[in-house]
Formats: sequence, structure tokens, C-alpha cells
Amino acid sequence: MARAAHGGGGMGLLARAALVAFVALVGVVGGARAQLRQNYYGSTCPNAESTVRSVISQHLQQSFAVGPGTLRLFFHDCFVRGCDASVMLMAPNGDDESHSGADATLSPDAVEAINKAKAAVEALPGCAGKVSCADILAMAARDVVSLTGGPSYSVELGRLDGKTFNRAIVKHVLPGPGFNLDQLNSLFASNGLTQTDMIALSGAHTIGVTHCDKFVRRIYTFKQRLGYNPPMNLDFLRSMRRVCPINYSPTAFAMLDVSTPRAFDNAYFNNLRYNKGLLASDQILFTDRRSRPTVNLFAANSTAFFDAFVAAMAKLGRIGVKTGSDGEIRRVCTAVN
Ligand code: HEM
Ligand SMILES: *[C@@H]1O[C@H](CO)[C@@H](O)[C@H](O)[C@H]1NC(C)=O
Repeated sequence: MARAAHGGGGMGLLARAALVAFVALVGVVGGARAQLRQNYYGSTCPNAESTVRSVISQHLQQSFAVGPGTLRLFFHDCFVRGCDASVMLMAPNGDDESHSGADATLSPDAVEAINKAKAAVEALPGCAGKVSCADILAMAARDVVSLTGGPSYSVELGRLDGKTFNRAIVKHVLPGPGFNLDQLNSLFASNGLTQTDMIALSGAHTIGVTHCDKFVRRIYTFKQRLGYNPPMNLDFLRSMRRVCPINYSPTAFAMLDVSTPRAFDNAYFNNLRYNKGLLASDQILFTDRRSRPTVNLFAANSTAFFDAFVAAMAKLGRIGVKTGSDGEIRRVCTAVN
């Protein structure tokens, strides 16, 4: 993710927090509190949600990467300028969010699935120009969670798509894999999310992958510094060294949930209890005594995890929503109208 975050160096925590607070403020002030609601398209495009689900489901069957990729896309969309599908915009010169920082590893399969879902909705009778890409992202994120074994839930809709994007802020407003609990909490708090929300949402790492560069420091650094390199199970560490040798390939990756990488379940939290969290930012949730009770709760009770995840996803989906003249309903997700 952000290079500064990896080393813990670069921008200081305070400067980073101030920037994050500023960006969050601009996001909130820029779009007055939107009125999101469930079944928003019930009369204007009643088949929107079922169409998105069927397109996403087809793509998920062709490529499992669509599942984790879509979930991560929604998270990155909401944390960068609010949930306005700015992450989907493609600049002809490559000067867009998807080519910056952590967004450079967003799944192309997921991006394609969202674009196809949008096209399918646009083609429904009477639906052209009615359903925003930001909402399609929210629906698709909901769908991949239940399609991979997680909870089913209704999703609030009514977002508009943003008209601009900002490549530069991407690396300042997303969390890095080397973040400690204080850094995670302050970034999520600046987006209106609590520590419990943050832990529940980290449970999204129950599916999907991470490239070697995001955790390689952990497996070749012997010094275990609390807050930067929390402990790792020795067998797990050895197997990760086989996946990512010192001269690892930039395309090599490992599963974020070593036990059930394709199931949306609470195994991620159980892994943490055995020091089998891959990213430092995952393992720290168990190592730090302030967040450990919540990890233990989610590990012991998957209903508690699912309930907290659904609640936190709703809050995530409300960040920086656009409603007025600062938004529009795009014809295609990759370009403003
Ligand atoms: C808590 C702070 C978080 C940090 C530090 C973090 C960091 C990361 C990193 C470094 C990767 C691997 C990227 C790569 O190498 O390609 C990743 C993947 C992923 N993240 Fe997070 N993440 C966080 C929170 C979240 C949240 C809130 C969600 C969604 C609700 C999420 C969903 C995912 C998913 C599903 C993947 C797998 C993507 C794929 O397989 O294509 N993450 N995350
Ligand atoms: C698990 O969590 C749910 C939801 O919070 C709660 O209703 C249930 O009683 C818990 N189960 C156990 C065995 O503690």
C-alpha cells in the first residue's frame, strides 16, 4: 500500500492524521448527508438488484477473484472521496485512482464484472440512466459476501456518481499493511467508523490474496517489534517463505486466510489467535490487548462477526455520499458523462 506506511516512516502520524481529517471533512461538507434507503430503485428500476446479482454471480463462477476483488473495490471507493465510484474512472493517460498506490492491485476481473453489471442494468427496459455505479458497487459487494458464504443483507441505495477523481490522495487515505492499532483506529475514526467496525471489516480478509511485498518484511525480519511486526507462527512463517522467497516474483501472492481462503467465514479471526495473520495490520488486532477481546468474540461466534460486519458495511457505504449537483448517474462506470 502506501510506501510511507510500509516503513512506518515518511509522513509522521500526526501529519497523516491531519491530512486524513482534512480529506474526510471535505468529503462530508462537499455532499450534504444523503438520504440512502433500501429498495431505492423499487419503482424506477425494479430489476436492478436481481440483475446485478446474476451478472456478479456469473463472473464469480468464472473467476473467484471477482469476490474478494469486488469487496476491496467497494472499500477503496468509499475511503477515497466517498462512495461515488471514483475508483472506476479510467483516465486515457492512466492518471486515475486505479493506477495509484494500493489501487494498482485492484482486481481487473472485479472491475470488469462491475462494468458488465452496469451495462446489463442500463439495458433493462426503462432503466437507462437511472442506477448509479456507486450503488452497483454497493450491491455487488453485498452479493459477493453472501455468494461466498457470508451473511445476506439489504443494502442502502441512492448514491450518485462523482464527477472527478484524485489520483494523488489515494496513498494518503487508505490504510497500509504495516499500520498499528492506533493508526488503523484514527484512519477509520476519521471515516466515522469505530474500532469494532474496523475489526469486523478487516474480516473481509477471510477471502482473497495479498502480494509478497505487503508482508515480506515480516517473514525476513527477526526483530519482532510490537505494533510493527507482531509475532508470527513459526510453521506459518516457514511456509510463507516458500511462497515468497527473498527473490520473490512481483506477481507471487498468498491467501489472506490460510485455512479457508474461498469461504466468507470467521476463520480469519481464528487464524489470528494462532499468530497466522499474514499482514501486520491483521495480526496486530489480536496482539494488541485493546482489540483482542473483539477478535476472540468474532472467532468464537460467527453470528456476532456477521452482525458486526453487516452493520459496519452499512456505515462504510454512507461515507461521503454525493446527492446534489456534485454527482450524476454515469452512462458507463469508466467515464463521467
Ligand atoms: C484495516 C485496514 C486494512 C488494510 C491495512 C488492508 C490491506 C490490504 C492489503 C495490503 C491487501 C493486499 C493487496 C495486494 O497485495 O494485492 C488487501 C487485500 C484485500 N483487502 Fe484489505 N486492508 C484493510 C481493510 C480492508 C477492508 C475494510 C476491506 C473490505 C471491507 C478489505 C478487503 C480486502 C480484500 C477482499 C482483499 C483481497 C483482494 C483480492 O484478493 O483481490 N480490506 N488489503
Ligand atoms: C453469538 O452472537 C449473537 C449475536 O450477537 C448472540 O445473539 C448469541 O447469543 C451469541 N452466541 C453465543 C453462544 O454466545
